[in-house]
Amino acid sequence: MGTALVTGATSGLGLEFAWQLAQAHHDLVLIARDEQRLRHLADELHQIAGVGAQVLAADLAVPEDCARVATRLRQGGQSAPSGPGDASAPHTAEQVASRPVDLLVNNAGFGLGQSFVGGDLAREERALDVMVRAVLVLSHAAAEAMAARGHGAILNVSSMTARTAMGTYAAHKAWVLSFTEGLASELEGTGVTATALCPGLVRTGFHAAAGVDESTWRGPVWLDAERVAAEGLAAVRRGQVICTPSLRYRSASALLRTAPRWFVRRVAGTSRSASAGAAPPTQPAE
Ligand SMILES: NC(=O)c1ccc[n+]([C@@H]2O[C@H](COP(=O)([O-])OP(=O)(O)OC[C@H]3O[C@@H](n4cnc5c(N)ncnc54)[C@H](OP(=O)(O)O)[C@@H]3O)[C@@H](O)[C@H]2O)c1
Repeated sequence: MGTALVTGATSGLGLEFAWQLAQAHHDLVLIARDEQRLRHLADELHQIAGVGAQVLAADLAVPEDCARVATRLRQGGQSAPSGPGDASAPHTAEQVASRPVDLLVNNAGFGLGQSFVGGDLAREERALDVMVRAVLVLSHAAAEAMAARGHGAILNVSSMTARTAMGTYAAHKAWVLSFTEGLASELEGTGVTATALCPGLVRTGFHAAAGVDESTWRGPVWLDAERVAAEGLAAVRRGQVICTPSLRYRSASALLRTAPRWFVRRVAGTSRSASAGAAPPTQPAE
């Protein structure tokens, strides 16, 4: 199928994207800060799924690291031959490193776990750098290189919170959604697509990392990372611009888009938990 670059590949949705793409015979370029975990994952992907994986440890909040990943995305070369059982598919990290990237998954992110007022400004700035600036820089590099080759796809992980008023995290994800829609329009006719994935609550390491108690939300509000990643990749294959996994969250999204903003602010307004990426508590049952 080609080569996919996944940011935030060591955990949660990014890890799922990596495995599902490997199962679909994509080679991978794996990005996150924890180099040891990335190397371990690359070995597993190689041994279990039979694909090659290049490791690029990078802190996307650091402009120089982000620029290194952008340089990798701009890299040309010949695309990998595709398909299961393709004997000429690259399987070493060195071979993967020489291939152009056909799919960029901008997935890395984290919940702030703090209020804006009185919160740590440095943490706010890191969140903006990882979830907005890096998405901008990496999409810029990928879109240009892919458009020049006449094919490719960009999948940006936004969130259901993009439809709400849940603090700066929601504002970052609203930016990702709006940016991706604009990019998709601009890319029309180039052979390159852009997709925004807008999940509700997903069971990953996200909430623990933000210091948010998962038991705040009970029942069927939780989605599996496996399902969310699968729906996101299916949307990419269809060239769909916005993907909201599950009927439950699609209904909530429709409600949030049509409701008056005062109602949205009241129901899904700035609560402490919301700043960690929570979805609104009023989803109709699926
Ligand atoms: N879980 C949810 O309920 C939910 C809902 C909607 C949207 N999302 C979005 O889904 C995406 C994935 O989140 P997740 O739930 O899978 O969380 P997760 O399990 O905590 O994974 C986050 C990933 O991002 C990486 N990361 C964090 N900061 C980074 C940095 N500065 N530079 C490079 N990589 C960094 C982490 O790796 P390292 O720590 O090794 O760097 C990790 O691989 C995020 O964009 C999140 O906003 C999540």
